[in-house]
Amino acid sequence: MSKDLDVLLKEERVFKPSKEFLEESNIAKWMKKHEIEDYESLLERTRKDPEWFWDEMAHDLEWFEDYDKILDWKPPHARWFLDGKFNIVYNALDRHIKNGRKNKLAYIWEGENGEVRKFTYFELYREVNRLSNALKKMGIEKGDRVSIYLPMIPELPIAMLACARIGAVHSVVFSGFSAKAFQDRSYDAQSKVAITVDGFHRRGKETKLKENLDTVLESIPSIEKVLVVKNTGSDLDLQEGRDFYWDDVLKDESPECTCEEMDSEDPLFILYTSGTTGKPKGVLHTHGGYAVGSSTTLKFVFDIKEEDIWWCAADIGWITGHSYIVYAPLLLGTTSMMFEVTPDYPDPGIFWKIIEKYGISIFYTAPTTIRMFMKFGELWPQKYDLSTLRILGSVGEPINPEAWMWYYQFIGNQECPVMDTWWQTETGMHIITPLPISNLKPGSAGKPFPTIEAEIKDDAGNVLLEEGGHLTIKTPWPAMFRTLYKEPERFVDAYWSKYPGIYLSGDVAHVDKEGYYWIQGREDDVLNVAGHRIGTAEVESALVSHNAVVESAVVGKPDPLKGEEISAFVILKQSFTADDELKNKLRSHVRSEIGPIASPSYINFVDDLPKTRSGKIMRRVIKAKVKGEDVGDTSTLANPESVDGLDKAI
Ligand code: WTA
Repeated sequence: MSKDLDVLLKEERVFKPSKEFLEESNIAKWMKKHEIEDYESLLERTRKDPEWFWDEMAHDLEWFEDYDKILDWKPPHARWFLDGKFNIVYNALDRHIKNGRKNKLAYIWEGENGEVRKFTYFELYREVNRLSNALKKMGIEKGDRVSIYLPMIPELPIAMLACARIGAVHSVVFSGFSAKAFQDRSYDAQSKVAITVDGFHRRGKETKLKENLDTVLESIPSIEKVLVVKNTGSDLDLQEGRDFYWDDVLKDESPECTCEEMDSEDPLFILYTSGTTGKPKGVLHTHGGYAVGSSTTLKFVFDIKEEDIWWCAADIGWITGHSYIVYAPLLLGTTSMMFEVTPDYPDPGIFWKIIEKYGISIFYTAPTTIRMFMKFGELWPQKYDLSTLRILGSVGEPINPEAWMWYYQFIGNQECPVMDTWWQTETGMHIITPLPISNLKPGSAGKPFPTIEAEIKDDAGNVLLEEGGHLTIKTPWPAMFRTLYKEPERFVDAYWSKYPGIYLSGDVAHVDKEGYYWIQGREDDVLNVAGHRIGTAEVESALVSHNAVVESAVVGKPDPLKGEEISAFVILKQSFTADDELKNKLRSHVRSEIGPIASPSYINFVDDLPKTRSGKIMRRVIKAKVKGEDVGDTSTLANPESVDGLDKAI
């Protein structure tokens, strides 16, 4: 990056937590115990002594043998809770069985056809043990890798926990990915067992996952056994000696299985993340630090209490689901909702219906979903009673202030704080996030979590204030990834070499006068217009703040004079007509919101934008289109048909 980023967006709205909410929160109670008066003092105190904070958090969990040292930090290598003997699953299940949560619901699951399955902690514990025993019989030992290719059914968390219980390393491959993606990831991990399903329904249509898997199994010689969950009941050809049905294997297994004593730093899982280019990166997380970091953030950011029903509406195939559907909620002994369905099937009211039906109290989703709900309008949520909600959350992309306001107003009834949590697969836990005691600014992810120090830097490494630049993290945190699986050099090069010893996130952001962080987009997407460097998020937010627009993506189109001109792709609300008059209105709207420099030269109306399967806009594909180049690999796109729509619009 040659120059810092311009900061265009000026969002002045501030929301303060109610007194009651503030005082009753977990974090406020913890602060009271330690005589910490306010948010700023909390940040100051924990930054001064991070080990004191994390030591106390770690002791909320149970260690087979206590650790000798809290942290060993030789950048970029961190080891947390050294020589502690620990197992995340013991803490997620066994501890609750002993301590009074045995019959509490761990999961309420609802499938696309309305089927409901519920698991108490005891039931979950027994299922996990059965599978752990079965995996051992299949030859799985501590340190072996198991690839899991399952949709959002209860067997997915069960499979992850069963691996971790016996010290095996799970690698979950999102069920929406192709068999080829499964092949690449499992080959890289050298997995010995694959766990999959006959099929699953999405929008009423069956995907036959095992059949897809059969096309690649021969090319992954490390896989010796395949365990198949019977879900849709479709006929399958099972290969004798290799493929087994889950029920057949588990029915004779004992519901008791010793939990393996792991070292705190032993690997827990690999999760492959695609990034924008190159081969997927195998992000590796460990038992001890990950358990402490993920559970602490859930407890303090989303303020989980004993009686809450928590719903993180992500897919477990992503880090959000790993951390906040599987591990952190179970570590806290929470009841979680787990849902198989897409947000607009059978109709756009389905999420609100679920919230009403189960009395969900905390709800966490992605901006792309919120913007989709905005498109369908507030009449849908208004049909349902959402009064049980007390906190809302957002993750995955910058949430535009207008989408934030809509969420706050129509879902939260102006009573629920919106926690815009910034973090990554690599960080394992929330890094920049509001807390129940902090003020909220729509569009800002707030400040770094207690103990963490972040900085915005220019290319030369100078620290920037009120100017955009690279978002970096200076201090270690327990849930940080330890390496990239089998690629230790890439780990250093990609994240730790630009500013030695400091974590480079790959996002651009700025900090305002009061220390709030505003994410401006991915650094690969930054626009360069007449010498101004502009983050995509700000221009997109300005467009979304016009009442005709629900979603937009902007990219740079090369221009000999200006460097780049801004080309905007815009999805309109259903009641608006796409015409030149509206284009002009949008241009002048952006001009008055954030300035003439950011006004798009081109506006293209589209029905859909290319997105990854986790809902992030793939600006790389749009950019290739406006430049008239080949779009390259689109196998990670959730909606490849959107690419044709771009052609028509340009
Ligand atoms: C983006 C998801 C703005 C960001 C947990 C990051 C966000 C990438 C936010 C990581 C947020 C995530 N505001 N941008 N609140 N949360 N991002 O690995 O670009 O799937 O680098 O982890 O998502 O995506 P990942």
